[in-house]
Amino acid sequence: MSNYELDPLPYDADALEPHVSEQVLTWHHDTHHQGYVDGWNAAEDTLEDNREDGDTDGSAGAIRSVTHNSSGHILHSLFWQNMSPEGGAEPEGDLRERIEDDFGSYEAWKAEFEAAASDASGWALLVYDSFSERLRNVVVDKHDQGAIWGGHPVLALDVWEHSYYYDYGPARGDFVDAFFEVVDWDEPSERYAEAVERFE
Ligand SMILES: [Fe+2]
Repeated sequence: MSNYELDPLPYDADALEPHVSEQVLTWHHDTHHQGYVDGWNAAEDTLEDNREDGDTDGSAGAIRSVTHNSSGHILHSLFWQNMSPEGGAEPEGDLRERIEDDFGSYEAWKAEFEAAASDASGWALLVYDSFSERLRNVVVDKHDQGAIWGGHPVLALDVWEHSYYYDYGPARGDFVDAFFEVVDWDEPSERYAEAVERFE
């Protein structure tokens, strides 16, 4: 039996107010994120059963389900860590320098990331592209459509409607502004450093 588990939020559910409401964070983590964890485990179990039975009926659908639900679990886990009540600052150190090298300036990166967030039907991601050895912004639909091979997520922003509609209605840009009020670059900076150490 597959046993991926949902970690608790790294802060209280009301810790990001007023930028992200306690209600939205609770629904988002406890219901939506839990659903991806459960979906991933169920799909893995289907594949395991099919392998044991020598039967591939339903295996292709289960493989798609693994991709969808595992991507949902992984990205949401990053998203929670990419925000904190002490957030709201700009990146510093090596990651800041790399953003300036690869995008021209922090402001140019941010404008491009916001454009990605306004267009995505899923996520805006800052990724480390291990093939080209550079940072990129990526527009992701659902949790996986538009992903780049060899891309390692550094910063993840969920722009599914479940992420903001209750708080901001159709004003997605206001939610993106709110995200930057609570964005926390500590974990993304570590994630970037690990990617550079591994691939460069
Ligand atoms: Fe979400």
